[in-house]
This record gives sequence, structure tokens and C-alpha cells, in this order.
Amino acid sequence: MAFEHKHLLGIEPLSASDITHILDTAESMAEISTREVKKVPVLRGKTIINLFYEASTRTRSSFELAAKRLSADISNFSRSTSSVAKGETLKDTILNLEAMNTDAIVIRHASSGSPHFISTFCTSAVVNAGDGTHEHPTQALLDAFTIRRHRKKIKGLKVVIVGDILHSRVARSNLLLLNKLGAHVVLVGPPPLLPREFSGMGAEVEYDLNRALDGADVVMMLRIQLERQKKIYFPSIREYRELFSLTPQKFRRAKRDAILMHPGPINRDVEISADLADSARSVILEQVQNGVSVRMAVLYLLLGGKEREITD
Ligand code: CP
Repeated sequence: MAFEHKHLLGIEPLSASDITHILDTAESMAEISTREVKKVPVLRGKTIINLFYEASTRTRSSFELAAKRLSADISNFSRSTSSVAKGETLKDTILNLEAMNTDAIVIRHASSGSPHFISTFCTSAVVNAGDGTHEHPTQALLDAFTIRRHRKKIKGLKVVIVGDILHSRVARSNLLLLNKLGAHVVLVGPPPLLPREFSGMGAEVEYDLNRALDGADVVMMLRIQLERQKKIYFPSIREYRELFSLTPQKFRRAKRDAILMHPGPINRDVEISADLADSARSVILEQVQNGVSVRMAVLYLLLGGKEREITD
């Protein structure tokens, strides 16, 4: 099946079958990472730029490893060590990098819509690695991949997403994706961080964490995005923790086989108890592992890899 998109700008432009196609492709990619020689010649000769204007551990490293496992050449760019520090604009930065004959640009930027902006003049494939509070599509894809591996399906599952929904691009991309695949999404957080309008995006909005957790199949905890908050949204961390931190006692309300997720980085004993984060119910490090497979699939599909070469 062909993948009919030049860029991956968000979950919004994808159909349910596009998403399933990426997840199925990621299953083939996962096997490559278990081999002794974790490399296939699928994207040999392709050049990818990893352009990160914001900090990252998981996304940046996994895009780099994904590109290398597919034999592409990848160059890492960071804001502080580039000419952005001398005032070069985003557009000039892209035009100069593209002058070196790039095939794909993976971009993380604090401004929502940056990947969409560069896709209007860029000839390379653009991959959104997180834009402001807008979208983080590969995070939602790796989350769906992880859920599907554990529960064998997405449709009909109760997925509870807890925390700073207002500032979370992870919550937005997950909500879009899970709706497209037929899950029941419940968003939970303090009212200032969870406006009622989110119910118009196809989610149930709930302000009581205990009630929301009843019968949950998946619980996804989010970090408080202090770097994006322009004002005080709740009285204190102590109060937030009391109402919205996930403890073993609260988690007992979810189904016995419910899985616990977090996109990272986690704040132990703030949004999630340290014991739970390290427990057998936690799939947090599996999410990170699956991120490599999903990003291999995205690069492979956008850059036109040949299927037969996956098994070479
Ligand atoms: N989940 C995630 O995007 O993590 P990083 O910020 O470390 O990339």
C-alpha cells in the first residue's frame, strides 16, 4: 500500500488507514532492532537533518537511530550551536540546509505551525517532531503502537489522559489519533488546564481523577509543561499532586490489566509515583523503544524505501 503524503505534519491530515499502515510498517521495523547488525540498506544515500530548536532526549535520539538503522546519513542541528544564535531566521536556516541537498527535515520548534510553514517552501519531506502546543505526531503513533501491542486493538478501549492538557501537544495528537481509531478518550486535569471546549474535540472531560480511572484500559500521565505556562494555573505542586498524581491506590480503579504510559520526561512523585513508574504495569520504557520502530517506519514511508530491502 502506498503512503500518499509528502510530509508528516500532524495526525490531523492522516486517515485511519494511513495510521494503521504506519503501525503495521513499524512492526516490520521492530524486528530490525533485535538483529545483531541493526542496519538495512533501505535509505542508503538519503540525507536527513535533525533540526531541534527545543530540548529533547527521546525524540531526537530515536530519529537519529532510526535514520542510521535504515542507512541514511543524518546531521544533528541544535539551536544553541548554530547561526540561529546569531539571529538567522527559520526560513533562511531551512533554505541554507536544503542547499546541501537534504531529503528530509525533522523539526522540533516552540512555535505551533512551524513545520507547516516550512513545508510551504521546502522541497524535502518535513517531519513534525513537536511544534509548540499543537502536535507531536510520532509520539501519538508510538503510543498507539505500544497500546496495540499490549491490548491487540485500539477500538473500544477506554484511554484516560491526565495532566496539563491545555499545553500538551502529546495529548492533542493522541486525542486525534485515538478518535480516528475508535477509542473512548477521557481527559482529566485541573479546570484551568482543561477547558470544557475539549469535549468538542471528541473527548469526555472529567475533573475527578478517581472517577475517570474506573474501568480504564490505558492511563497516560502527562508532565506539567511549566516552560509553556504564561501564568499560574494551580495553587501549588502539593495540591496538584494530591488531586492529579497517580498513586498505586488510585491506579487500582483501572482494569486489572490496564497499562500505564507517560511520554517522558517524568517527574517522579509529581504526576506519577516513582514506584508505579518502575512497576510491571508501566510501559514507559517500551514506549521509548517503540519510538525507534515508529520513526523508522515514518522515514521509510516518506522517503520511498523499497520493501524487499527490509529483509536484506
Ligand atoms: N516524549 C518526548 O518528546 O520526549 P523528548 O522531549 O525527550 O523528546
